[in-house]
Amino acid sequence: MGESGVTGIGFGTWSWGNQLLWGYEPDRDDPALAETLEVAVRGGLSLVDTADSYGTGRFNGRSEWLLGRILDRCDGALRAQLTVATKLAPFPWRLGRRGFDRAFSASQERLCGHLQRVQLHWSTARYAPWQEGPLLDGLADLVEEGRVAELGVSNLGPRRLRALHARMQARGVALRSVQVQMSLLAPEPIQADGLKTTCADLGIDLLAYSPLALGVLTVPPGGSPPQCTRLRAGLFRRLLPASEPLRTAMAQIAAHHQASQAQVALNWCRAHGAMPLPGLRRVTQARDAVKALSWSLSDQDREHLDALALAGQERMPANPFMSA
Ligand SMILES: NC(=O)c1ccc[n+]([C@@H]2O[C@H](COP(=O)([O-])OP(=O)(O)OC[C@H]3O[C@@H](n4cnc5c(N)ncnc54)[C@H](OP(=O)(O)O)[C@@H]3O)[C@@H](O)[C@H]2O)c1
Repeated sequence: MGESGVTGIGFGTWSWGNQLLWGYEPDRDDPALAETLEVAVRGGLSLVDTADSYGTGRFNGRSEWLLGRILDRCDGALRAQLTVATKLAPFPWRLGRRGFDRAFSASQERLCGHLQRVQLHWSTARYAPWQEGPLLDGLADLVEEGRVAELGVSNLGPRRLRALHARMQARGVALRSVQVQMSLLAPEPIQADGLKTTCADLGIDLLAYSPLALGVLTVPPGGSPPQCTRLRAGLFRRLLPASEPLRTAMAQIAAHHQASQAQVALNWCRAHGAMPLPGLRRVTQARDAVKALSWSLSDQDREHLDALALAGQERMPANPFMSA
């Protein structure tokens, strides 16, 4: 939540360096990234999300690396408006309370020291429950030692979040945020007893990743999918037909506000108290996300979209590492 009590908007950098899903091409994509970030932050987007596992093949670590260099060249006043959050992956070989030490130092280095929040990327509760607690304790040590300011988690359901919150509370370290998939095509967090309620109870910020359903929600009714990688094309093929009524309602709301469907998708998250993290790599996308800050959904429109979202049978695939 922002100081005004209204949820802000952040953005994500998963596509920066990812050829497999996002068709990343350094010569084509890199030149626009610095301006994208600058437009986003000047316009009021207040958090940027990355991860040590972002970037595929020879571009491993590229998202943090690019972000670090761009931030290093920004003026300090602009940087001060932004929370930089990375996620460390609990790979099977990262074990014990010191299991993240080297990964944390490597992220710090790639980010040129511009890092405020470290997040546990996913829950190991379903396949290695013993791994999670010590790793999180190690991240909390970093906060206590003053090496990073804030701690967050990701891909946790309500039950697991309560357990980890209690563990952190017992040693006096705050959990600032939890980020999960949340969109009009992944509305689980707003269901009764969903994560939205848990976050409100515990005072933890809810961050909504993939708020545009990887772009599906931005396709106008009757529209065709964009040119994209084979992996993403499969998602569009599966989700576009069933989401036609939802996207029709979004287009009507968008027209009423002279806004885009993407803005409707972002403001639906905000209307539920969640900070959306759209994936941005173009200046036009940053401008569009910024415009969403200037208006909000009416209760009536939100309820209409809620009903369509919750009734939808075809949804985004759940993250396999998401815990209950
Ligand atoms: N914690 C986790 O496990 C996890 C998992 C997934 C994502 N995330 C975070 O969440 C961030 C966002 O999620 P995401 O990248 O999966 O998906 P997303 O935000 O749902 O979708 C990004 C896609 O939307 C398109 N787009 C962005 N702004 C647009 C606009 N204004 N109008 C039309 N299209 C627009 C982009 O198009 P183009 O293809 O044209 O660029 C991109 O394809 C990631 O970058 C990452 O930081 C976290």
